[in-house]
Amino acid sequence: MERQAKINHLIELREKAKLGGGIKRIESQHAKGKYTARERIEMLLDEGSFEEFDMFVTHRCTDFGLADQLFLGDGVITGHGTIDGRVVYVFSQDFTVMGGSLSETHANKICKVMDQAMKVGAPVIGINDSGGARIQEGVQSLAAYAEIFQRNIMASGVIPQISAIFGPCAGGAVYSPALTDVIIMSEKNSYMFVTGPKVTKAVTGEDITVEDLGGADVHTGKSGVAHFKAEGEEEGIMLIRKLLEYLPSNNLEDPPATECYDPIHRKEDMLNEIIPLSASQPYDVKDIIHAVVDDSEFLEMHRHFAKNIVVGFAKFNGMPVGIVANQPMFLAGVLDIDASRKAARFVRFCDAFNIPLVTFVDVPGFLPGSRQEHGGIIIQGAKLLFAYGEATVPKVTVTLRKSYGGAHDVMSSKQLRGDINYAWPTAEIAVMGAKGAIEILEGRTIAKMDDPEKKLEYLAQKEEEYIEKFANPYQAAKFGFIDDVIEPRNTRFRVIRALQALATKKDTNPPKKHCNIPL
Ligand code: HXC
Repeated sequence: MERQAKINHLIELREKAKLGGGIKRIESQHAKGKYTARERIEMLLDEGSFEEFDMFVTHRCTDFGLADQLFLGDGVITGHGTIDGRVVYVFSQDFTVMGGSLSETHANKICKVMDQAMKVGAPVIGINDSGGARIQEGVQSLAAYAEIFQRNIMASGVIPQISAIFGPCAGGAVYSPALTDVIIMSEKNSYMFVTGPKVTKAVTGEDITVEDLGGADVHTGKSGVAHFKAEGEEEGIMLIRKLLEYLPSNNLEDPPATECYDPIHRKEDMLNEIIPLSASQPYDVKDIIHAVVDDSEFLEMHRHFAKNIVVGFAKFNGMPVGIVANQPMFLAGVLDIDASRKAARFVRFCDAFNIPLVTFVDVPGFLPGSRQEHGGIIIQGAKLLFAYGEATVPKVTVTLRKSYGGAHDVMSSKQLRGDINYAWPTAEIAVMGAKGAIEILEGRTIAKMDDPEKKLEYLAQKEEEYIEKFANPYQAAKFGFIDDVIEPRNTRFRVIRALQALATKKDTNPPKKHCNIPL
């Protein structure tokens, strides 16, 4: 072949590879309201930055007539590119080629980018749209999945791993995204389950749709498996790009700081009045978060799951932080199983990637009841306790109102190596709320009283005394458990100063193989 003919041949092969499973299947993908694997990568990466690997890979299976069904690239597009100028590695499954199903060679391509990302110290972004194991390949395909899982595990806490689910993700295939840091699901067309509706029906008799079993609403609202629900794929892709604004490329780097144009001294007068006069009245803790962070920008994770705790990323003076806040708007901000799991995972995510933690506390305690106890709130709550105590990143805590009992200790308290613990004057740091405390302390006296009116009067007076004595931040401040009581409107500045002071913080945990966090 002549030189030019060879070049033309290469160009032809490239064009062929770019068509994946062919024009008809691309049209069918579009008709479902989905983008193709290649279009998704184009949207994700900085323009013109994509460098593709393994475009000419084909599978090796000859069973079930597969010998003549060869598609260049074998159903996954892989390579590297940049997002806001920073290197990332990507793989994007191509549903137009045998339903994006995973063959041995398809998996090898994914493993190659994961291996290189680990060497380079760059995030891996996986876009999932696949019918699962390539059925014709049998056990080889299972082994291939396990190769990916093992890499997910080794990369965990070393490089950020982000998964987008833009189509089917079923069977054991769900475990690769589950092992990554963040899962984003598109509202339509995406689902995740270990066992699909047909098998579910056969085994349990339960009749359920794909959406009700494992759609985006289920996983972002009920199971907590996914962190973000995107209205469409564009929004999902935008979320990936946004997320990376807060994450370092690997665990040896600091998160990316940016120029801050929001004055660090900005006072927010409304914060002095945001805590309602009545202790049982709710307010939206997100109003406080938005008021104090740079430009009111807060990227909330897990928004639809365990709404009694809020977690997400923001910046203070251009420095990324992870924010955890009890949310009095839901279940009075109580800690329950889901909230503890959600926050624990987030705290560990931040700690793994050197992202300081800012915690806003308004917690009445743990949710009582047999459902919680039988569901293991002891172990689940211990996760959050463990996560805070283990974290070595800078930890700044602001107690806004209630901080009662065990939940006080859990929420980044001084004794869990909280570095700087502030409280607002409205803080109530005590063993428990006044009502509960008085009922216990005065139970005997009350039992002897006959007149119900006198009883109530007595209780009210005792409660008042308790509030006067304990429902304030000064008891804790007296012992140095609170470093300072601050005026709410100065919170932004005080948090920034705390973070600046802690920027060079070094803390370690004792050498060990790994911890034994209560799972
Ligand atoms: C080989 C597959 C495939 C698979 C789909 N295709 N899934 N080929 N292996 N796993 C092929 C189809 O045969 C079809 O080819 C093309 O992809 C498009 O699929 P359709 O069924 O036409 O698409 P759609 O109607 O959109 O349905 C999508 C689907 C369905 C719901 C994903 O294809 C499906 O149920 N697939 C099987 C899913 C499954 O059971 N996978 C194995 C799970 S077990 P043609 O040429 O006909 O167009 C598993 C174990 C992993 O994954 C274990 C890891 C530890």
